[in-house]
Parts: sequence; structure tokens; C-alpha cells
Amino acid sequence: MDGTLVSTGFIDVAALEDIPRRGARTVSTPGGAIALFRTGEDRVFALADRCPHRSGPLSHGIVHGHFVTCPLHNWVIALATGTVEGEEASCVPRFPVRVKDGRILLDIGRQ
Ligand code: FES
Repeated sequence: MDGTLVSTGFIDVAALEDIPRRGARTVSTPGGAIALFRTGEDRVFALADRCPHRSGPLSHGIVHGHFVTCPLHNWVIALATGTVEGEEASCVPRFPVRVKDGRILLDIGRQ
């Protein structure tokens, strides 16, 4: 095993406390890195860690409210939908995620 997730269905990937508020952490999968974002109110969202503009690492962006701003050219992406503000044709793939008993459960689907 190389530490890359291969699974279908929800799997335990981290503790909520592993991610700072208004921060992010990545999970490696066969389809590429997935960024887990934690908001200031402890909501967790999962998006592909790849900006649709020029592939900037969204996990290095700034989390504000339910949005993340890409670190490269400041596109603003809605965490709940993956849509890009002002660029309706662009969208970041999102993944089902939930928090249970302080653990983050992620469904990476079939990759
Ligand atoms: S790569 Fe994200 S805004 Fe350009």
C-alpha cells in the first residue's frame, strides 16, 4: 500500500480536530487529491484539490464562510457546490462527506 485510498462507500479519513478551523487537509486517492475543508462553524466539505482555472491547489486557499479562494488567482469557489463565483461554466468535483462522533467520513466514489 502506498497510502492512497481505494474504496467505495464512506470511509474514515481523519478526525475533525486534524483540520484547523478555516483550514484544509488533503487525502490521496487514485483519481487525485481530495481537499477536506473545515469551516469556522465546523462544517466539513470535500472537493477535488484542483482549481478549474489552472489547477491551483485549493487546499492552500483561504477558507471564508462556505467558500475557498484559490491561492493562485483568487477564484472563489463555493464549498457546498463546487461552483465558481462569476464563472458558472466552471465547477470543481465534490465528494460526499460527513462528520460522525468527531470523525470525518468521506465517499470517494468509483475512481
Ligand atoms: S488556478 Fe485557481 S484561480 Fe487560477
